[in-house]
Amino acid sequence: MGSKKSGQPLRQSEQTSVLVDERNFLEAIRDAGYRNAAVTIAELVDNAIEADATTVKIEVTSDGDLKFPVQISVIDDGRGMSLKELQLALVFGGSSRFGSRDLFGRFGMGLPSASLNLARDIEVMSWRGSLIRTVRLSLDDRNRFNGHSIRSRRLIRDRMPTPSGTKVLLRSCDRHGYERPGWLSRSITTELGRIFRRQLESGLHISVNGNKIPVMEHLLLKAGAALYGDMLRYQIDGPGRGGQVRVQFSELPVLRWSTMSSSEKAAMGIPSTKPISILRAGREIDRGWWFMGSKRRENYDSWWRCELDFDPILDEWFGVSYTKQGIQPVQALKDLLTPDLETIARSMNSRVRSQFDLVKIADPIQVAERTVQAVIPVLPDALGCRGGRKRDIRVALGETKSPAVFEVRTSRSVETVTLNICHPLIRDLYAPLASSDLTTSKSAAARVALVALAGALIDTGAWPVAGRAQAWSDVVATLLERCP
Ligand SMILES: Nc1ncnc2c1ncn2[C@@H]1O[C@H](COP(=O)(O)OP(=O)(O)O)[C@@H](O)[C@H]1O
Ligand SMILES: [Mg+2]
Repeated sequence: MGSKKSGQPLRQSEQTSVLVDERNFLEAIRDAGYRNAAVTIAELVDNAIEADATTVKIEVTSDGDLKFPVQISVIDDGRGMSLKELQLALVFGGSSRFGSRDLFGRFGMGLPSASLNLARDIEVMSWRGSLIRTVRLSLDDRNRFNGHSIRSRRLIRDRMPTPSGTKVLLRSCDRHGYERPGWLSRSITTELGRIFRRQLESGLHISVNGNKIPVMEHLLLKAGAALYGDMLRYQIDGPGRGGQVRVQFSELPVLRWSTMSSSEKAAMGIPSTKPISILRAGREIDRGWWFMGSKRRENYDSWWRCELDFDPILDEWFGVSYTKQGIQPVQALKDLLTPDLETIARSMNSRVRSQFDLVKIADPIQVAERTVQAVIPVLPDALGCRGGRKRDIRVALGETKSPAVFEVRTSRSVETVTLNICHPLIRDLYAPLASSDLTTSKSAAARVALVALAGALIDTGAWPVAGRAQAWSDVVATLLERCP
């Protein structure tokens, strides 16, 4: 740089000391690539968490502005900012942790670029004790940035909401993408509930207009999904000691959930949710379909989930940009992870497929379950009661761990009897009858299930061993008489 012809210095009038055209830059940075309003606000929540906030209040309101009435504020009870930190807060590249790989912040771009993505006017207030300081950046004000003339004022102590904290006020939000503030707050609620699910689970309180954000699970373990296999861990080279990638899969209960209505399924994110969620330092940055090699996504793949969490030190491997909007993994990372993840995904897919095959033959199981439940009250107490209460028995069809015809599991006093699809009685007798279109065959299938279930009732009841053969004959007879 610095010469027209080699060796010839530029004349003074041909040099420029301005690196950035401020006005154009501010307009251009608005298109940095944030996907939606929620992910932009997530940047502000990141900062609050890094300032050790325990509570983050988001308020979406309308002010009197006729053109752009929506305003959003994000208020935290974190440690607040020093004068120097506040001076840098709205400076692009200004950061108290530039280059850090400890948690979320790294580039010093989040606050100004995310805020400008939504709003024309940004005000950051930060307080410690009774001293409150304000800095502002506005696209429409000729005096755009007052970083060098920060306003400071003292407030009466009991008017401060918390001992320290920060409020980012976004006014004239002209690019939030929603017709009504109500829709905007709803989308913020669900998105942030997903993005910060780990932090919410460990006690962080985030609210939108006074309503606490609920945790949006991805693996759906609390809702009833089960972990699939152990967590996979990969230690990868990086600056210093390198970092780790952790991967966990879960499978959704196809047999139980396949009968849900479409709207119930939609509420669980089936089939819309992309199965692989990428977390950076425990905070979601993307969802999609990665490390799957040649495997294409099919409908069955809506029935398993995967969570991949990586340390920020590995940003270069994952191709993380400053907006933290998704990943672009490098080939070496794909080569490392794909063989395992693709194999697991293929086996999960085929497990889901065989579960759906079972769904097709599950009707008689429900008939059998209802029959057992109707018979329990008329059985002698040694068979029909447990711990002084009538037994609550559910019946399922599936592959069991043991080769026996049934397996019983008890959870919170509910006993679930799983009939083993691999046992010849179920595979060669029940299944063909249950898959027939004839009502008589389906009803015979229910009766086959009941013969096995009578065994389960006796086996898990308190009947004396000596009298079990007679008891089994009697219970089978009662069940078959009651079966519709
Ligand atoms: N809520 C907050 N509480 C305390 N400090 C904050 C808060 N938000 C921003 N900051 C300060 O402003 C700086 C710039 O934030 P940001 O632009 O998001 O960049 P980064 O998070 O990458 O450092 C941070 O480094 C921090 O010092
Ligand atoms: Mg940040």
